[in-house]
Amino acid sequence: MARIIDAPLTGSEGSGCDPRAVHGAWGSLDAARKRGLSYSAEVKAETDALYEKVKHVVPAVEWPAYAPLIAAINTIKRQKNAVILAHNYMTSEIFHCVGDFRGDSLQLAREAAQTDAAVIVQAGVHFMAETSKVLAPEKTVLIPDLRAGCSLAASITGADVRLIKERFPGVPVVTYVNTSADVKAESDVCCTSSNAAAVVEWAAREWNSDRVILLPDEYLAKNVAAQTGIKIIAWHGRCEVHERFTVADIEELRAAYPGVVILAHPECPPDVMAAADFAGSTAALQDYVLEKRPAKVVLLTECSMSDNVAAAAPEVDFVRPCNLCPHMKRITLEGIYDALVEMKHEVTIPEDVRVRAKQAIQRMLDLPKEKPRAFKVGMPETAVELI
Ligand code: 13P
Ligand code: SF4
Repeated sequence: MARIIDAPLTGSEGSGCDPRAVHGAWGSLDAARKRGLSYSAEVKAETDALYEKVKHVVPAVEWPAYAPLIAAINTIKRQKNAVILAHNYMTSEIFHCVGDFRGDSLQLAREAAQTDAAVIVQAGVHFMAETSKVLAPEKTVLIPDLRAGCSLAASITGADVRLIKERFPGVPVVTYVNTSADVKAESDVCCTSSNAAAVVEWAAREWNSDRVILLPDEYLAKNVAAQTGIKIIAWHGRCEVHERFTVADIEELRAAYPGVVILAHPECPPDVMAAADFAGSTAALQDYVLEKRPAKVVLLTECSMSDNVAAAAPEVDFVRPCNLCPHMKRITLEGIYDALVEMKHEVTIPEDVRVRAKQAIQRMLDLPKEKPRAFKVGMPETAVELI
C-alpha cells in the first residue's frame, strides 16, 4: 500500500515508504563531502543534542551523513539572521534539526507574518514560500528547490478564477492556500485545511450568500460541504498524494491491525474521510496523536508526518501506508544549505498581485484564532456543483 509517487528524485537507495530513502543518508553524505563538510568532533558535539530529538526515526548509522549539513545550516542561519519555516511533511532531519518554526500551512503563514528575521527559507513547497513573501514583502524569501510545486496549485490559474467570478457574480470566492499568488489575488478570502469550514461559514454570512465558491480542491470542497451544509461550487483540482487513499486501504488496515486508529487529511476522498476515525489538517492530526496517544495509529497523509510525530511520541506504533509527496521531497538539507550560502532561489511577486493576495490571506488571519478544526467523520457524501 505504501506508494512513492513520481520517479525517485536523487539517489535511489532504499524503497518502500521511507521518505529519507528517496534522497537517502548517502545522498546527504555525498553532498556534504562535495561541500567540504565532514563529521568532525566539533560537528558531533554541536549536533548530539539534535540527534536526541530524532533518534527514534533516524538510524544512528545515518546521523554522520546528516550532521555536517545540519551544523553548517544552523551556523549560516545565525550569521545571516535567517529562519527556516518547516512544513509537517519535511523529513525529520530537516523538520526537527534545522526548522525554526514547524507546523501546518496556517501556522507557517502566521510565523512568516511575525518573524523578525531578515531571511526566510521555506522548507515546504512553492505556494507556501509565496504566502510568506506576500505576508513579509520586506524579507528575502528563499525556496531551496524551484521545482517544489503542488498538484492543487497547478490545477488553476488567476484567469480561471476571473472566469468563475463572471459566471457566479456576488458569490464569495474562498481559495485554499495551496494556490499561486495570482489565484489568491482574485479571491475574497483564503483558507487552509485547519480552518476551511470556519472560513466558508464566515464567507457565507459576510456575503449573505447561500453558496460559496471553494477552490481548487474537489475533495476538500466536498468534505467542507458535508461539514457545513453550505452549497459549494467547486473546481476539479486534486492532491495527487491524498487522492490515492481508498476505502479498500482502510479495510485492509483494519483487518491487518485490529484496533488501529485511522486518521485522514481532508484532501482525501469523502468516502475515505467517512471511514476514518478522525480527520483534520496536519496540525490537527498531530494534536490528536500527542493528546490521545493511541497504541497503534495510521496517518492517511504524506509519509514524513508519521516520522515527525513519532519523534515526539515514540511509544505510539505508527503503521505507515503513506504516500510520498514528490514536491515536498525536493527539499533536502543540501538544497537548504546552497540556498542560504548562495542566497538563491528568491521568491518574488509583482506588487499589485501581492497586495491583492495579501487581502485574501489577511482576512483569513484576522478571523478569530481557534484550534485546528477537526472534520466530523462518518458523514454522508455531499454533492457540490463542479465546474
Ligand atoms: P496542511 O495545511 O494541513 O499543512 O496541508 C498542506 C498540504 O499541502 C497538505 O497536502
Ligand atoms: Fe500539494 Fe498534495 Fe503535495 Fe500537499 S501533499 S503539497 S497538496 S501535492
